[in-house]
Amino acid sequence: MNDGILERLRRLRAADAPTHGGHVLAYVYDSGMPELDELADAAASLARPVNGLDPTVFPSVAAMEREVIRFVRRAVHGGRDVTGSVTSGGTESCLLAVKTARELWRAEHPDAVAAGVRPRLLAPVTVHAAFQKAARLFDLDFDPVPCGSDGVVVADALVARLAGDVALVVVSAPAYPSGALDPIRVVAAAARARGIRCHVDACFGGLVLPWWRDVPDWDFRVRGVTSMSADLHKFGYAPKGVSVLLHRGRRQHRAQFFATTRWPGYPVVNPTLLGTRSASPLAAAWAIVQRLGDSGYTDLTASIARVADGIRDEVERIPGLAVMGHPIGPAIALVADADAPRELRVDPHRLADELARHGWRIQHQPGFVQSDGTRLPRSAHLTLTPVLERSLTEFRRALGRAADAVRGRRPADGRVLAGAVRALGYGADRVPGPAASWRLLRLAGAGRIASDRPMATLLALIEELPAPVAEALLTELLARMSEPR
Ligand SMILES: Cc1ncc(COP(=O)(O)O)c(C=O)c1O
Repeated sequence: MNDGILERLRRLRAADAPTHGGHVLAYVYDSGMPELDELADAAASLARPVNGLDPTVFPSVAAMEREVIRFVRRAVHGGRDVTGSVTSGGTESCLLAVKTARELWRAEHPDAVAAGVRPRLLAPVTVHAAFQKAARLFDLDFDPVPCGSDGVVVADALVARLAGDVALVVVSAPAYPSGALDPIRVVAAAARARGIRCHVDACFGGLVLPWWRDVPDWDFRVRGVTSMSADLHKFGYAPKGVSVLLHRGRRQHRAQFFATTRWPGYPVVNPTLLGTRSASPLAAAWAIVQRLGDSGYTDLTASIARVADGIRDEVERIPGLAVMGHPIGPAIALVADADAPRELRVDPHRLADELARHGWRIQHQPGFVQSDGTRLPRSAHLTLTPVLERSLTEFRRALGRAADAVRGRRPADGRVLAGAVRALGYGADRVPGPAASWRLLRLAGAGRIASDRPMATLLALIEELPAPVAEALLTELLARMSEPR
């Protein structure tokens, strides 16, 4: 009977994009070391029945957490004043960093609170969307600072917006959409001088940059950095469900906790957002960190650096295609070369669709109009993993061929469809409900998303629609996918 159940799961999994082998350049982080997966499975299985809610009953949880935090803290040059928690992932680490900063800002600014001032969350526009979510959940104003078309923010533009209502300024190491390392030193120093907390979001790069060559100081060596997030389920190579949030100073760390004795049940002390917590991802990450140690991460990072060099070399040889800005670390964004004549340009979304037809998956990122009216170009994101080194030649060839196939093709245009949506009366102040959203999606030919379907048209529509409408449509698309019929 179990065999039948597992056989069905295997069939379901067959429709997924491959998680191993390096053909999917987003979402998955394959070290190329199957023995790590085996170790992680065994460790996760040993810890499976444990409830991470209460380390007084299950002290193994505290022991593993302590060792994982110590490893990450050392890698990012945190001293003994730095402590932290293991969370369920990057988003939870980011949410908690913001919640903590808001709690402390409120405590430190009673007059502003009494006067009804809302705390502000300041960051470059390329900061991960998890911070928008945090601002919404914890009631802060989100203040995104525009970047250049190379995805780089000017430090002075951020510094100029630092003021007493800023509860937290966030910089990324690196930013996911561009791969750029934000000007951490300048921003953190300016924040420190004004008594403002500064979070480094190293969810993406936190387990790579410590071993990357020639990185400007970005971590706890920078004195104004007060907290940092780093994901073990990305370049820590652990299975999903584990990240670390570090704070400078116990007082700040403790402000992250929720504790109550004000109910008739057991006293509740939650360091993170969840109550009951699986110990399996922690155990898997703990085992992998033990196994890899400094030297393991050094080797894996060297492999990523060779992949990054190889891909950059290849893109340089491809007419009409360019790398956005100057990425540092394991992310690269590809854009059409704005200096090339139009008939030679390679639209990154056409490129992504063409690559998908040949079994390679890179991630579409829509063009984006910033608050000052300037536009960040549409791009395609590549997450570079160690395993890709083995098929780097094959990937370079596929990239060149795909570029040849789409060079000069007009980018998908969402204006006609977006016009139709507007003609039906939908806009930022009139958002379609579930039924109307579904009708619009079907009209746009996006009623069914398979993992290998061309996405350029849907992305072009997203670029053109007012954000609230696009968000309603995408919500509907995802909700329908898992809705029982
Ligand atoms: C820089 C950065 N921060 C935060 C996150 C959110 O992480 P998660 O998807 O684990 O919630 C990501 C995810 O890619 C990221 O790249």
